[in-house]
Amino acid sequence: MTDEVAFSWREAEEDLMDGLDTRVPHSARTWSYWLGGKDFYLIDQQAGDQVAEVFPGIFHEARSSRYFLARAVRYLAAEARIRQFLDIGAGLPSVDNTHTIAQQVAPECRVVYADNDALVMAHARALLTSDTVDSTGYVQADLRDTATIVTEAADTLDLAEPVAVIFSHVLGHIPGDRDACTPVARLMDAVPAGSYLVASDGTDANPAYVAAMRRYEQTGAAPYRLRSPQQVARFFDGLELDGPGVVPYNAWRPDPCPFGPAGTGGVAGVARKPGKKSARHAVEPGPPAHLAVIHGADEKR
Ligand SMILES: C[S@@+](CC[C@H](N)C(=O)[O-])C[C@H]1O[C@@H](n2cnc3c(N)ncnc32)[C@H](O)[C@@H]1O
Repeated sequence: MTDEVAFSWREAEEDLMDGLDTRVPHSARTWSYWLGGKDFYLIDQQAGDQVAEVFPGIFHEARSSRYFLARAVRYLAAEARIRQFLDIGAGLPSVDNTHTIAQQVAPECRVVYADNDALVMAHARALLTSDTVDSTGYVQADLRDTATIVTEAADTLDLAEPVAVIFSHVLGHIPGDRDACTPVARLMDAVPAGSYLVASDGTDANPAYVAAMRRYEQTGAAPYRLRSPQQVARFFDGLELDGPGVVPYNAWRPDPCPFGPAGTGGVAGVARKPGKKSARHAVEPGPPAHLAVIHGADEKR
């Protein structure tokens, strides 16, 4: 008999990796693969490739969505004169991160990144730094835990001043419609009139994309629910849409872009919280959200 405890390589590896599981594909890492980044493991690449077999447009989907985010942040900083950003489900650092774009326009911009993934937060703290001390903050929280997000974001942001709240390709991780709308509404309640919501998401308009997300789920990754363009537009209820409405990514205030206008099924919009304008905010409101969905997103590939 021996009282030696059997050594477990798996436990040792888990200790070393600080709970990081490289046996299951993760949303942020697979997204990084589709974006052309470098922060993913083989398991994420394999899951990403399985999706691409069914829906080759996934690479354009990810990159078009990211181009939209960059245009929206630049527009809000340059034209709507927003100086504070709260980026929820921020993902792994990529090119054109929110604080990079915002601070290129106005160095005084303050940005808080929130995500529920410990790896994302570790990368974010290391890489998403700003020249201006304390102008970038990080919150590790589930997006449904809006109380924590608001409390911790307030360390960096002045919540009495307008904030652009961003949900870029993350709300599909919340399957229920009410469950997804509630955190959006709560965070928009926590910021003053003149604040903005930026939201983008894939949609069920393309059957290949829907089938690909089923395949993605079968890899063991967290499921991603594709909503209809109209359901995505509901996130903007009670807000004033700015620009063209809730439209395919590449149709929202387009720049010359390598992906062309057709898009892949995803839609995006930017909307302002109504109320008394401060002198800084001179952007004209658009039509109500539910009237403004453009059905170009329904185009089948
Ligand atoms: C598809 S990536 C999008 C990343 C980034 N927003 C972008 O547009 O490039 C989704 C991100 O949402 C995060 N996420 C997933 N579920 C979440 C939740 N319940 N609360 C907060 N973040 C979540 C993931 O960790 C991942 O970083």
